[in-house]
Amino acid sequence: MADSRCQILERLYKSKSKERISSGINGLDEMLGGGFPAGHIIVAIGDTGTGKTTLALQYIYDGLCKGESCIYISIEEEIESIISTAASFGWDLNNYIEKKKLELLKLDLSDIKNAARRIKVDLPELIKSFGASRLVIDSITLFSIMFDNSIERRIRLVDLNKTIKKMGITALYTSETDTKNPFHSKDGIIEYSSDGILFLQQSESARNMKMMVRVIKMRRTVHDRISRPYEITEKGIIVYPMEMVYHSEGEDVYGEMDKKFLG
Ligand SMILES: Nc1ncnc2c1ncn2[C@@H]1O[C@H](COP(=O)(O)OP(=O)(O)OP(=O)(O)O)[C@@H](O)[C@H]1O
Ligand SMILES: [Mg+2]
Repeated sequence: MADSRCQILERLYKSKSKERISSGINGLDEMLGGGFPAGHIIVAIGDTGTGKTTLALQYIYDGLCKGESCIYISIEEEIESIISTAASFGWDLNNYIEKKKLELLKLDLSDIKNAARRIKVDLPELIKSFGASRLVIDSITLFSIMFDNSIERRIRLVDLNKTIKKMGITALYTSETDTKNPFHSKDGIIEYSSDGILFLQQSESARNMKMMVRVIKMRRTVHDRISRPYEITEKGIIVYPMEMVYHSEGEDVYGEMDKKFLG
């Protein structure tokens, strides 16, 4: 039997009353019933240019503005590039690095052994000593491809998530999509061992390009399941949680994800 409106509201209220960590994006928080549940590991999966790094920076900057200590691990982009990207949105990271509220680390994949040790041993120590409440790994795809076979990859990712969970930090990973299976991450593993998945998608129609975000899963909370439009502006990402995705006037078009799930 379908849930009554009253039951749905009660569940939403209960999930809202649990501690939430803002994603830094009001519209996305609304889709999630108030933000990321504290202590969750969330993966933002999307193609290149969908705004994964922007989302990650916005999440971290929100924490910094609220006085939290944050850690940002970049696996591909150099630190200077991350700082400039943030500055292009008006977010001054240098100020927080100087105040020791932000640790911005670049992991060098040419030295796999050292990179793996830094994640396994140094990261938990850093989280503890830094008192960090938010963590970003951009991107988890590049972290996982350090390991050459799928079994080792799975072991390392599950191990990483166990460590992160133990630390109680709220983590956001970014992940590239699999070109053969675009609704999944490139490694095909991370979505199963994480608590939440955000799917960022660009959809091209004859007239224009639409960007949409969908919450595929978010454990222990009620959330919106419809793809909602978003934009990347000079102030960061804006999500429109009450809007549908329209491709042409008068016609509301579900995202490819919605078609798959809603039939
Ligand atoms: N300062 C800015 N103002 C407005 N839009 C911006 C700004 N900086 C970037 N963008 C937009 O965001 C897009 C890139 O976003 P971002 O780098 O977050 O994507 P990504 O998913 O991390 O890409 P990749 O997979 O290549 O790492 C750009 O292509 C541009 O459209
Ligand atoms: Mg990026």
